[in-house]
Amino acid sequence: MDKVRQALDRAREERAAVTAFGAQGVLVTDEPGVVSDRIEEAELSPPSPALARAFAVGAELLERNRVLPADDRSDAAQAFRMLRTQVLQRMREHGWRTLGIVSARSLDGKTTVAANLAVAISADPRHTAVLVDLDLHRPAVARLFGASGAEGIDEVLHERATLDSVMLRPTGLDRLRLLPAQDAGQRAMSGLVARPSCEALLAELKGRYTNRIIVVDMPPILDNDDALTLAPLCDCLLFVVSEGKTSRADVSRALTMLRAIPVLGTVLNNCSTLAPNKTVSYG
Ligand SMILES: Nc1ncnc2c1ncn2[C@@H]1O[C@H](COP(=O)(O)OP(=O)(O)O)[C@@H](O)[C@H]1O
Ligand SMILES: [Mg+2]
Repeated sequence: MDKVRQALDRAREERAAVTAFGAQGVLVTDEPGVVSDRIEEAELSPPSPALARAFAVGAELLERNRVLPADDRSDAAQAFRMLRTQVLQRMREHGWRTLGIVSARSLDGKTTVAANLAVAISADPRHTAVLVDLDLHRPAVARLFGASGAEGIDEVLHERATLDSVMLRPTGLDRLRLLPAQDAGQRAMSGLVARPSCEALLAELKGRYTNRIIVVDMPPILDNDDALTLAPLCDCLLFVVSEGKTSRADVSRALTMLRAIPVLGTVLNNCSTLAPNKTVSYG
């Protein structure tokens, strides 16, 4: 823990908020956000439902997969809403709308954080959110929301499907859209994110609605070069660290590799010891 903590302290000096999402589904945040009351009228309407295919999303499945409902009253959900507010403030200041969720390795909690943050963003009436699965070697968004079997973003990158035909609208989460990826095997996914169609896809997502925040579930930074290819296509990043798993060397290496792209903050996942009296439980 000490090593990770030292690395995080250093990251914190350089960056912004540090939020921790703890071991048994617990979460702490140490820098409460301030909610802006500036609501732009043009940004209040939800996107047209006609452009996305609706699918029923089960509350139990979401709970099992640690995705908290937008109106959840738990402290954990509240902490995600605080993280959302902090992130949105920083993004608004700079006119940024594409946020990549990154970490050094797989299984650090990127998808879990990306999904919860996208849900929390979509609950802010000033915004809509699109959760885009670009961890093509280990896609997880479809499984998390129970949308398995749906055609994926990989088909759009291969230019075999349109964005609208793969965009999903989970019922009950009206301001959230999903762009899942299919698990089509390593070879099929190789080099896909480097295609011009990937940059075009992110630009199209961003161009359609000015109030839309694009949350990209990214590949791990240190496992292959996909994340480094994708990172410059994001306006900014959020860095997930898994306590007891992510080594200090990996944190430093990953942050060094990301130097050119703004990192808004660090989410400490699987946290059991940081600020224990601030640690809160689900439910
Ligand atoms: N704070 C947490 N406590 C317990 N399990 C977690 C936590 N965060 C993530 N997990 C679980 O760990 C696994 C990996 O998380 P995931 O978000 O898929 O990581 P990544 O996207 O970085 O590979 C998943 O099964 C997820 O449910
Ligand atoms: Mg993942």
